[in-house]
Amino acid sequence: MLPSEQPDQGKQTLPTDHQIMGYWLWVVGYWLLNKQQTTNNKQQMQLIDTHVHLNFEVFQQDLGSLENRWREAGVVHLVHSCVHPNEFESIRHLADRFYPTLSFAVGLHPLDVDKWTDSTKEQILALAKIDPRVVAIGEMGLDFYKADNHLLQKEVLLAQLEIARLLDKPVIIHCRSAAALMREVLTEFPVRGVMHCWGGTPEETKWFLDLGFYISFSGIVTFKNARNIQASAKMVPSDRLLIETDCPFLAPVPKRGFRNEPAYVLHVAQHLSRLRSVPLTTLAAQTTANARSLFQLNFSYYENN
Ligand code: NI
Repeated sequence: MLPSEQPDQGKQTLPTDHQIMGYWLWVVGYWLLNKQQTTNNKQQMQLIDTHVHLNFEVFQQDLGSLENRWREAGVVHLVHSCVHPNEFESIRHLADRFYPTLSFAVGLHPLDVDKWTDSTKEQILALAKIDPRVVAIGEMGLDFYKADNHLLQKEVLLAQLEIARLLDKPVIIHCRSAAALMREVLTEFPVRGVMHCWGGTPEETKWFLDLGFYISFSGIVTFKNARNIQASAKMVPSDRLLIETDCPFLAPVPKRGFRNEPAYVLHVAQHLSRLRSVPLTTLAAQTTANARSLFQLNFSYYENN
C-alpha cells in the first residue's frame, strides 16, 4: 500500500517511518525486478550471424538501417565471410565501422579458384596475420554443382587448409554437391571449422559431425521443400549448431525472394527452435555460445551490450 492510499482519507495524518520505509522498499524492489527482466530479455536474444557478405554493393546504401534492424532482432555479432582476398580492405573497413560487432575471415571461394595465383597463398597468410579480428580462413571448399574444375578446386582447398593449420584458425567450408570428396579431404587433413549454409543429407551431416565440424544452417532450412536439410537440422547436437544468413543470398521464409540481411537470422533461429522443439531463447544461447567458442570471439561486446 502506498502512503497516499490510506483508508482513513478524512484525516490528514503523516505517514509513519514504517510506511515510508515500506514505500521505498517497494520502489527499489520494483526497479530491481524490472532491471532483471530487461537484462534477461537482452541475454535471451543474443544471436550471432556467422556468415555475412555486407561488403557487397547491394548493401552500401543503407548500412545504418541494416545495423538498427539487426540490433533490434538481438544480433550481437557478425562473422563476415570473404570470397577473394582482394575484399580484405573493404571488409576491414566494415569491421572498423561496426567495431566491436564484426569479425571476419579471409580466403578464396571455390567458384573463384581460377583467380588463384602463385602468390595467393602468401597473400591470404599475410592478411590473416595483420588483424586480430580475422577469426577464420575461408570461405573455401568444393562446389561441383556450379563448376566442374574439380582438381583445381581440391588443390586450392588443400592450400587453404594448410594456411588454417599454420595459423591455428578454424575454416569456413562451402560444400555443394561434393560431400564425398570433402569428407575424404577433411579426413586426410583434419582441421576445425564449420560447414556453412549446410544443405546435406542426414548421412552426410553425420560424416562432418564425426570429423568434429560445426554445422551452420541458413535460410534454406526454412524452405518448405527442404526436407533433407530439416532432417539434418534435427540431428545436429546442440553444441555443434550454428546459424547464419549468408546475406544477401537465400533470405529465409517469410522474407524469401527479398534481399537477405543479418536481422533475418532471427527467422532461421525461430524455425530451428520449432524444428528441434527447444525454446528460442535456449537455441539463441546455444548457437551464440558455439559461435563464440569456434571463432574464439573474445571482444568486449558482451560487456558493452
Ligand atoms: Ni558465403
